[in-house]
Amino acid sequence: MQLIDGKSIAATIQTEMAEEVKQFIAKGNRAPHLAAILVGNDGGSVTYVNAKVKACEKVGFHSTLIHLDENTTEEELLATVAKLNADPTIDGFICQLPIPKHINEQKIIEAIDPKKDVDGFHPSNVGRMVLNLPCYLPATPYGIVQLLDRCKIETSGKHCVVIGRSNIVGSPMSILLARNANPGNCTVTLVHSRTKDMAKFTRDADIIVVAIGKPHFLKADMVKEGVVVIDVGTTRVDAPETKNGWRLHGDVKFDEVAPKCSWITPVPGGVGPMTITGLMQNTLLAAKKAVY
Ligand code: GUN
Repeated sequence: MQLIDGKSIAATIQTEMAEEVKQFIAKGNRAPHLAAILVGNDGGSVTYVNAKVKACEKVGFHSTLIHLDENTTEEELLATVAKLNADPTIDGFICQLPIPKHINEQKIIEAIDPKKDVDGFHPSNVGRMVLNLPCYLPATPYGIVQLLDRCKIETSGKHCVVIGRSNIVGSPMSILLARNANPGNCTVTLVHSRTKDMAKFTRDADIIVVAIGKPHFLKADMVKEGVVVIDVGTTRVDAPETKNGWRLHGDVKFDEVAPKCSWITPVPGGVGPMTITGLMQNTLLAAKKAVY
């Protein structure tokens, strides 16, 4: 079994990017600028947004964090989005999800200018991804594809089972792995909460991407020997003995699944750091006007 060290791969890519950013600025361009909107104080979201801002500094980007109150109205959030759309000093921006329930999330996503949608969530970018046109790929699937690439894991002709059909991970992951591209060219099965006898599919899989947010969901009797497992789960579970009072649990029962794997991502230190890297890469593309 080999561990897919997302932390180290992300650090390598970010070091490469920092050099690219230096050259970009040396040519007379200003530093790429990412803005992040955070509404409310959800613990996970605050941590993720802070990590994104910190990563910006590391690669030489400028960043702006717009932290809005939990009670922000939909109109106020739409006005903030409109302001960022119109601001020529901002290359790309994200609105950290989830946002409070009284705001229509889809309306916010669709209000973002696709040219600045470095999350790749706008229907224009999703459509372009499906058609294999230049676009911003959603950061987590983009990061996973790069993990497979950097670890030289063959995907062509393999059976990949994606567990979970979220707009952010499962659905775009299934599309990316099925594309005529490298990595890609997989035979993809997308399974979800209504799938009957899920283990029938996962036991046949060469590669499994699990993204359903249920700690320890994937167990040893659901996988075959030699499988590649990518764990996207990051559920916070109470752990009073730790400094934070919680611990991150993946969607995989790691101790029993890992011995059967050829490759597996740990949690933390697997997919998480690559999600941030994917966002940074999209922002650099936006600054370079390389997509639109
Ligand atoms: N919430 C969980 N993942 C993401 C992400 O990739 N982008 C945004 N904006 N919110 C998220």
